Amino acid sequence: MTDLTKGRGERGAGWEPRIVAFLCNWCSYAGADLAGVSRIQYPPNVRVIRVPCSGRINPLFIVKALQSGMDGVLVSGCHPGDCHYISGNLYARRKFALMKSLLEYVGIEPERVHFAWVSAAEGIRFAELLLGVIETVREIGPATRMIKEIETVR
Ligand code: FES
Repeated sequence: MTDLTKGRGERGAGWEPRIVAFLCNWCSYAGADLAGVSRIQYPPNVRVIRVPCSGRINPLFIVKALQSGMDGVLVSGCHPGDCHYISGNLYARRKFALMKSLLEYVGIEPERVHFAWVSAAEGIRFAELLLGVIETVREIGPATRMIKEIETVR
């Protein structure tokens, strides 16, 4: 397993923010796919995790991503009214509004977590969204507050 925490906390030259993007299968993942097949370029800082619906994402996934060395998190689902599970995206929006408040309460910059709607036809919008997320996280710097140091036993 790759140690994502290695070299964290160093904002010097060469540091690039690492973003995890949880994308719903039906809209946002298809939008990311459209960006790919349309050859729309975006930086390789993003690791995509495909989920059935944005409502499936447990806020602990976000905490775990930040603990594991990711600098930012994007959650993206279908536009309101387009969710294939009726209202999963609306539940997700409520969860992440609360999640951002909780992160702020514990001292994590809420700008590290982004929530957005992207449809299957919005490849350009997906690429622009990612660029915005990466730039926002780049300004904040590396996420080190939640990383636990684990001593290895030899
Ligand atoms: Fe896309 Fe629910 S299926 S957000």
